[in-house]
Amino acid sequence: MTIPADRWYPQEWVATATEVAPGFSTVPGVFSADGPDPASVALVAHLPEKMPTRVVDLGAGWGWLSAQILARPGVEVLHLVEADAASLDCAKRNVVDPRARFHWTDALTFALSEPVNGVVMNPPFHEGRKADPALGAGFIQTAARLLTGAGRLWMVANRHLPYEAVLRDNFADVSEIGGDSASRS
Ligand SMILES: C[S@@+](CC[C@H](N)C(=O)[O-])C[C@H]1O[C@@H](n2cnc3c(N)ncnc32)[C@H](O)[C@@H]1O
Repeated sequence: MTIPADRWYPQEWVATATEVAPGFSTVPGVFSADGPDPASVALVAHLPEKMPTRVVDLGAGWGWLSAQILARPGVEVLHLVEADAASLDCAKRNVVDPRARFHWTDALTFALSEPVNGVVMNPPFHEGRKADPALGAGFIQTAARLLTGAGRLWMVANRHLPYEAVLRDNFADVSEIGGDSASRS
């Protein structure tokens, strides 16, 4: 049977980007698509005034946290690592800075030829709809692997997530630098 040529209408639909904060746009479906995640906002409030020279943002999403890192003095290169292509596309539009390097890849296997001296992250705590603390624990192990011996990790997580042991196994000093009683869901 021959299908008439006018029967099929191949189409490509691309979600419309919406500006959710000055200079930042997102598309539906990315993490915290309606604006900066409160946990990332809390983390930024506790970052040092001067950042290390070589920094990684693991699970960079649409780039708000990365932009705040780049806005602080000291950073020479920032690696944005993100597994979700739509999120990373947003980040490329939102973070227009020659110091930014974009990596569409799995943070758990991400590697660099040179160690970095800072990692900043708001790690994922869900795999699909299911809470999965192992994913965040894997991010912590990746951070430790990427850092020099004197490097530092700054991360934010919900207090109920069991990261204490994996942090202590992978880092010499672990301290809480801020906190509130609100919890993410
Ligand atoms: C809690 S969100 C934080 C996003 C962004 N840093 C922010 O502050 O809004 C975690 C991010 O990690 C990404 N992610 C999840 N699993 C990942 C993986 N295995 N490798 C890299 N990124 C991943 C998600 O797509 C999401 O953008």
